Amino acid sequence: MSLIQQYQASFRDRNAYLSQEFTSGPVDWDDAPFKHTVRPGTFEVPLPAGAQLAERPAPGVSLAALAWALWHANGLLRRKLDVDWTKSASVLNHGRASYARGTASGGGLYPVELYLFADGLAGLPSGIYHHCEARSVLQRLRAGRCTPALAACWHGSARAGASYLVLTVRFWKNVFKYKNFGYQVVTEDVGAMLGTLLQVLGELGIGAQVRYRFADRRLAAAMGLDLDDEAPMAVLELAPDSGGAVLADGGAWQGRAAAPLERSRRVAVPELIRQLHAATLLDDVPPPRALEPWLPAGRRTALPAPAPLATDTELFMRRRSSMGRQDAGAGVSPEQLATLLAAAMAPYRSDVVAQPAGPRAVRLAVFAQHVPGLAVGAYAYDPAAHALQEEGGAPDPAAGLQRIYYLENYNIAETALLVAVVARHEEAYAAWGERSLRICNAEAGMIAQRTYLAAARLGLSCGAALGFNCAEADSLFQLQRPAESIVMMLMISGQGAPSGFTARFDG
Ligand SMILES: Cc1cc2nc3c(=O)[nH]c(=O)nc-3n(C[C@H](O)[C@H](O)[C@H](O)COP(=O)(O)O)c2cc1C
Repeated sequence: MSLIQQYQASFRDRNAYLSQEFTSGPVDWDDAPFKHTVRPGTFEVPLPAGAQLAERPAPGVSLAALAWALWHANGLLRRKLDVDWTKSASVLNHGRASYARGTASGGGLYPVELYLFADGLAGLPSGIYHHCEARSVLQRLRAGRCTPALAACWHGSARAGASYLVLTVRFWKNVFKYKNFGYQVVTEDVGAMLGTLLQVLGELGIGAQVRYRFADRRLAAAMGLDLDDEAPMAVLELAPDSGGAVLADGGAWQGRAAAPLERSRRVAVPELIRQLHAATLLDDVPPPRALEPWLPAGRRTALPAPAPLATDTELFMRRRSSMGRQDAGAGVSPEQLATLLAAAMAPYRSDVVAQPAGPRAVRLAVFAQHVPGLAVGAYAYDPAAHALQEEGGAPDPAAGLQRIYYLENYNIAETALLVAVVARHEEAYAAWGERSLRICNAEAGMIAQRTYLAAARLGLSCGAALGFNCAEADSLFQLQRPAESIVMMLMISGQGAPSGFTARFDG
């Protein structure tokens, strides 16, 4: 078994949320890292924020459109003051203020960083810029035309005059808390960010292609990053069909990115995190090997057509984790269920499937509790037929569903619906080797974020969780372990937080 497969097995077989193989010792909260990445003294370009973004920019790639996308995906949209089942009133203390973003992140730690490779973008000198959300600016990492450096990262297909967004992870921002468990979390966080960016760019008429596979060391060197601290995880190629000459390799860069401010006195990324990441690195990018869709056999139930989801500029402000504020109440209608599932599995362009396709490294399973007209039980979602297939019978009611969740902030009896993201580990490993861990987890995170956004549009409450009991959840859906296993659980209910229960401060 490779290191990656061992890690997947540890996640699958763990007997506690953060079981022994994942954590050691208490978290040193007093020495926690800064939640933001700021490089003091760097050349920076201010970006519009908040009310300055009242008008949606014209369609197409422009600085205004990218500022809009970065704000909605990664900006500090509002201060968090909701009362829920996770936090207490300590958030009211100004010194501990916490800010909500458009994109979910495990533990609210936000380790994903966004970098723009700009080449000939009007109003912005060419270079590599970091989106510093704390100051709502672009901070420059490297000046000049840098896109030629990308040509060597995936066989010369980088184009002149094109812009790219590179998603990196700063490991310490997560692993100071989650330690060895953190690799699972950060790789899903990357997918959540991809989910928002694809949606918001799409609304701005900007097509985008996800690159999961690139020469990691070359890309990190082009950005002047030390892979042990901060690693590129995915690339978004913007407007991939718009002309532009194919670039020749720009050669290596000897420079280093300015070091970000570090609040922690002691930074100690666990050795396992470094080893896991090293195992996933590519120097050469083999041609894509697609995974064909697969579903277990079962009796099929057709779903209603998904409802069209209108675009809505308040959506990212509204999206939030329910954190237990769920009330099975009226349940989730079959139309709402159909809309959520279709949105979660919508096609997108990536470098692992030749044509735009829905997520392939993962599939969806649903446990319906309060969906009128649907018998209580487990189902597999078939995106091609837009139908459900029975996957497991109703569980023993005496066993109770709470056993599938380790934490205490969600009452599973109050969820109308569980949506489980099932990673096709064995097939993905056969297709993409060690890199498959990152691809499976990115698609799981993307589905989580797409579900959050669709739920917010439909007025449903939604919460993503990794704190579920994998063995119990896999058995609820009668999965064929170890070929596949659940890597994300979404808890959805028919009503948002009851009014009067939620305080809002959007200043
Ligand atoms: C990969 C991932 C794992 C998560 N795991 C849990 C979890 O186990 N339990 C939980 O209550 N929330 C979980 N969340 C939700 C985050 O805690 C939440 O997104 C974060 O605190 C920010 O809050 P917001 O989503 O309301 O903006 C997870 C989110 C992600 C993206």
